[in-house]
Amino acid sequence: MSQPGDFEGVRKDIIAILKQKGYDDGSAGPVLVRLAWHASGTYCKESDTGGSNGAGMRYEAEGGDPANAGLQHARVFLEPVKDKHKWITYADLWTLAGVVAIKAMGGPDIQWKPGRTDFADDSRLPPRGRLPDASQASDHLRHIFYRMGFNDQEIVALSGAHNLGRCHVDRSGFEGPWVNNPTRFSNQYYKLLLKLKWKPKKWDGNFQYVAKPPGADEEDEDLMMLPTDYALIQDEAFRPWVERYAEDQDLFFSDFAKVFAKLIELGVYRDEDGIARADKMKAFKGSY
Ligand code: HEM
Repeated sequence: MSQPGDFEGVRKDIIAILKQKGYDDGSAGPVLVRLAWHASGTYCKESDTGGSNGAGMRYEAEGGDPANAGLQHARVFLEPVKDKHKWITYADLWTLAGVVAIKAMGGPDIQWKPGRTDFADDSRLPPRGRLPDASQASDHLRHIFYRMGFNDQEIVALSGAHNLGRCHVDRSGFEGPWVNNPTRFSNQYYKLLLKLKWKPKKWDGNFQYVAKPPGADEEDEDLMMLPTDYALIQDEAFRPWVERYAEDQDLFFSDFAKVFAKLIELGVYRDEDGIARADKMKAFKGSY
């Protein structure tokens, strides 16, 4: 057991579980980032529901959503940390794990504040269907991310998280990593989007793009882009941001840090001292 409020201790223990020999590319980091994002990305600005509060993925209605397939791995990786620091809420742990993983993989420092509360039951979960569908295009991205309160620049910056990790056929129906080194945070995703010749993958699976990195051998794994990734270079308002982030890694890191901090605060109410106030949160009043 640890002292309540020892977030430094929690951070250290998250770092200690990142290395996972035999799992994917040897790191739990990417799937932890995806957990933090899917926990938060259900937010709806208009109805002020969803978001990182509640840790609803512990319940079948949200955890069993096909959009969240594979995230049970992330939750299982974090169980020993929760076990040691029983006082931390899951909602805080999942968002903190994303932030710690990004930094540990070479990314920017991202502001993280505690105070999220876990739902005591499954009666206030956001409806399914609020997370993006990778088979679609820019109008869908805008529909989903404007609902959360993001703009075009923020959509492109957030998508840069696809520098990390990979798609798994048995989770999403897509296959492969976006970049050569999927456990190192960088702006490579934007560079490759612009530079490589992306072609439709020849297979029976979901429509996606593939390309060989320059100098790769035939047996080297293909890199991939989802239709929603490719939409960022097809859309005339998104594309200039892809170009800027490809050219300027510092700008990408600083914009990404801001937008990820905003993402994990969605639906969290704080008083003027920055203290989270569960009683002010609509989701806690059961107003779906
Ligand atoms: C993985 C879709 C935005 C972070 C994936 C996968 C899909 C997907 C289909 C593969 C899942 C699997 O098969 O395991 C999308 C779509 C987005 C989006 C359509 C809309 C723009 C984001 C955002 C973040 C993010 C905003 C974080 C800020 C990740 C990470 C992975 C991932 C880190 C790799 C997970 C792993 O390696 O297990 N995404 N995503 N994605 N996504 Fe996204």
